[in-house]
Amino acid sequence: MTNPSPGTDAPLFTPFTLKSVTLRNRIAVSPMCQYSATEGVANDWHRSHLVSFARGGAGLVVVEASGVSPEGRITPACLGIWNDEQRDALAPIVAEIKKAGAVPGIQIAHAGRKASANVPWEGDDHIAEGDPRGWEPIAPSAVAFGGGLSRTPREMTLEDIERVKADFVAAAIRARDAGFEWLMLHFAHGYLAQSFWSRHSNQRTDQYGGSAENRGRFLLETLEAVRAVWPDHLPLSARFGVLEYDGQDEETLKESIALVGEMKARGLDFIDVSIGFSTPEAQIPWGPAFMAPIARRVREEAGLPNATSWYIGSSENANRMVADGDVDLVMMGRPLLENPHWPYQAARELGVDNASWTLPAPYAHWLARYRSA
Ligand SMILES: Cc1cc2nc3c(=O)[nH]c(=O)nc-3n(C[C@H](O)[C@H](O)[C@H](O)COP(=O)(O)O)c2cc1C
Repeated sequence: MTNPSPGTDAPLFTPFTLKSVTLRNRIAVSPMCQYSATEGVANDWHRSHLVSFARGGAGLVVVEASGVSPEGRITPACLGIWNDEQRDALAPIVAEIKKAGAVPGIQIAHAGRKASANVPWEGDDHIAEGDPRGWEPIAPSAVAFGGGLSRTPREMTLEDIERVKADFVAAAIRARDAGFEWLMLHFAHGYLAQSFWSRHSNQRTDQYGGSAENRGRFLLETLEAVRAVWPDHLPLSARFGVLEYDGQDEETLKESIALVGEMKARGLDFIDVSIGFSTPEAQIPWGPAFMAPIARRVREEAGLPNATSWYIGSSENANRMVADGDVDLVMMGRPLLENPHWPYQAARELGVDNASWTLPAPYAHWLARYRSA
């Protein structure tokens, strides 16, 4: 006897295929830093955190921003993927995610001028200069973010730029070797790549600053170098902040969409539409699923499958966004922290056939009759 599968009668629960990878539904776990690692190495916390989402029924589980180098971490407690010990600690977690029926992904990242911060519940600001727990952040220009992240970074030399690109490549190789099947480049949220793109943080006068072509160069070169080592048959995605909510949004959006088109030409398979977070002065219109129309525009104009996140919140919003063609996937964050079985809850709310079977048999078998009683 084979176990039933959850139905596909809601668009959120239809499979999604990209390259050789098929997700069982459109629910992706957005990368979420846990600030719980030592020396960048994943431990039991990461294992139970990540595997619980796979068991909870998500289609894709993306591991938190993992530093491509020690200096590329946001905090000393962030995950890393710059050495073999870190790769080998992730590999069994990857295998467990797959065993639970989800596709394992990872976000590789360099935090740029936002690096060397305290963990959020211990301040969420820069570690004081001189404190041995911290390090000197690097960035395209010696311009601090501001607010609590007030430390002025060191302006990167051309050698630094080459080294960081090579770090991204080495991280992609380790991610591949750990068994990940979906790679996400962190080109968002004011971290290093985004800070090359944003006029708020990039004041360079060389080939990496000034025009849109120059500000996009680091992102395109990094992408191209990673694509050369990331297997052709596996999806390469980027999370990219396409606007800043700084009053210049139409201009930024147009330039960002053109850059996404360039990324596509260099082998990007999927775009996760997000926010720049390059200035503490941004006026972000937080609200239910507020990024949906922007994600849709990027999808249509750049011609790439897409996702977005931020306050999607409900199964109704998530399902409608997929049904309307705003997005191919929803990246869910905090709803999954509240309930790692959120996909099961969503399946029930949307009236999907065999909703219990969103969960593994040791749970599903008992819930089917319990719920209909
Ligand atoms: C605890 C936490 C950690 C996060 N860490 C990351 C991260 O590592 N990389 C990233 O791109 N976004 C990160 N984010 C943003 C989420 O991926 C997501 O985009 C955001 O929470 C909005 O989705 P939501 O409204 O469903 O939570 C984080 C968010 C939270 C709440």
